[in-house]
Amino acid sequence: MIIHKISELQSKLQVERQKGRTIGLVPTMGALHAGHASLVKRSVSENDVTVVSIFLNPTQFNDKKDLERYPRTLEADCKLLEQCGAQIAFAPSVEEIYPEPDTRTFSYPPTDSVMEGAMRPGHFNGVCQIVSKLFSYTNPDRAYFGEKDYQQIAVIKRMVEDLGFKLTMVSCPVIREESGLAMSSRNTLLSDAERALAANIYAFLKKSTTLGLDVQQTHDYVVENIDAIEGLKVQYFSIVDGNTLAEIGSWQDAESIVGCITVFCGSKPIRLIDHIRYK
Ligand code: PAF
Repeated sequence: MIIHKISELQSKLQVERQKGRTIGLVPTMGALHAGHASLVKRSVSENDVTVVSIFLNPTQFNDKKDLERYPRTLEADCKLLEQCGAQIAFAPSVEEIYPEPDTRTFSYPPTDSVMEGAMRPGHFNGVCQIVSKLFSYTNPDRAYFGEKDYQQIAVIKRMVEDLGFKLTMVSCPVIREESGLAMSSRNTLLSDAERALAANIYAFLKKSTTLGLDVQQTHDYVVENIDAIEGLKVQYFSIVDGNTLAEIGSWQDAESIVGCITVFCGSKPIRLIDHIRYK
């Protein structure tokens, strides 16, 4: 069932709640792929009702061109959701979500100020604006997010604590193409040749976990090898505490350590993100 209006979504979910049914929410911006399907299937297996929101949220795009060229595939998305067993696709208009400009600000440093936060000013503020609205409309028992956007999950967890949402955040593993490339809606914007180039990102990340190098050497190994490939350019590679996202200087500095990378691919260029766990 596809719903476009907030009031309709709320009354439908109220009925479900009165029947004692649990609700899972999978927030998306559409252009769904196998990565999204894995989140939806997980929600379907853990909740009585799964709501998948499909909303290309303008407030999280600091680059207008990125928003304009973002793929839009609503019909195919709805088909995929049906196949995955989701009961509700919530696809509101921009006017429905933002009848007035959203002036709320969210600030959770360092999680939202480093890496993507530094490169895309306002991005996480926009993500918190829309995700907090979706949480309020659906009041889910569980909300599902892909670990591909590792930093996004860390920021949303802080927001959930801050605003006191009573829900469980469920982080789901990255789904990769056969080549190792992390699945992303933006991959459809890559040519076949660019897709093949992009597979090097994960290959070097993975290799870097096997070399026994120190943190600085690991950083340099990844950046130098990816930059050496024509058509790829690293924007940043940060090796950080997996919980706070603060940069670390040695493998002993944190219990959980993750390397987060953003790479420009091809001539348009398309910005791809990925990460690897070191500890
Ligand atoms: O990860 C995404 O697709 C978006 O940032 C989200 C969480 C759906 C908010 O618009």
